[in-house]
Amino acid sequence: MLASMKEPLLAAMGGGYAIPGFNFFHQSSAEGIAEEAEARRSPVFLMISGVYARSLGVEVAAAMGRRAAEKVSTPVALHLDHGDGYELAEACVRAGFTSVMIDGSRLPLAENIALTKKVVAMAHPRGVTVEAEIGEVGGVEDAVYEEGGERKLALADPGRAAEFVETTGVDCLAPAIGNVHGLTKREPRLDFALLARVRAAVPIPLAMHGGTGISDDGIRRLVRGGMAKINVGTELKVAWRRGLIAFFEDGGYEPRLAMLAAKAEIRKTVAWKIGLAGSEGKV
Ligand code: 13P
Repeated sequence: MLASMKEPLLAAMGGGYAIPGFNFFHQSSAEGIAEEAEARRSPVFLMISGVYARSLGVEVAAAMGRRAAEKVSTPVALHLDHGDGYELAEACVRAGFTSVMIDGSRLPLAENIALTKKVVAMAHPRGVTVEAEIGEVGGVEDAVYEEGGERKLALADPGRAAEFVETTGVDCLAPAIGNVHGLTKREPRLDFALLARVRAAVPIPLAMHGGTGISDDGIRRLVRGGMAKINVGTELKVAWRRGLIAFFEDGGYEPRLAMLAAKAEIRKTVAWKIGLAGSEGKV
């Protein structure tokens, strides 16, 4: 069922587990995520990135997500991931999303604060929760490390993070602690000491971006360290590809069946990450 994750996120924060957030790209991935979450009795964020929401169109993306959520009995938040502007966030709220991320992390701090406040003022009266990001979470396109292995990305500052949360009224914060989106050549070096400092400074649930490429032990450590939401995207694309390759190599050609083959692989990855997040059986 379509739901808010406000209470479930607070329960995860207090209970030492995390709620996974999975990116969907089309109907079969949305359904695979929701169905596996239901099978595992896990709350889940069904997330669509700003890029995909724009390419599908917000109405189509919302209809896909709603349909997948409404087919299952467990709570599913329909979430805009990396919303890059106020208009997109507002369009998603109007279309029935229950959660939006506004990503102003590349803006100067004052502008990130102003944009996030504006989104919170629009979303909260409609019962929609807001996630924001502080510091820079890298992407595969970014040169994350200098030659000598030093980090180049600006990481979250605990004092500023606390001030940001207080000023903006966001429900969930994604702090940059050395995490990187996508497939990386080596496992990102996460700053667990910084996570502990941010966790101590910030009273709301924290979200971990860039779950792909982090070892199982790394994810467990992040959850123990206080991440209440764990995002996984690219790994589902890899699962989708694996399912389709096997289907086509077997001589398959029917698109509807190809999507089922991809969905089956997506479900396996979803089950694995739910296990790591510790959210199985929480609903
Ligand atoms: P990955 O693609 O690295 O799993 O990151 C997903 C994510 O954080 C979406 O916001």
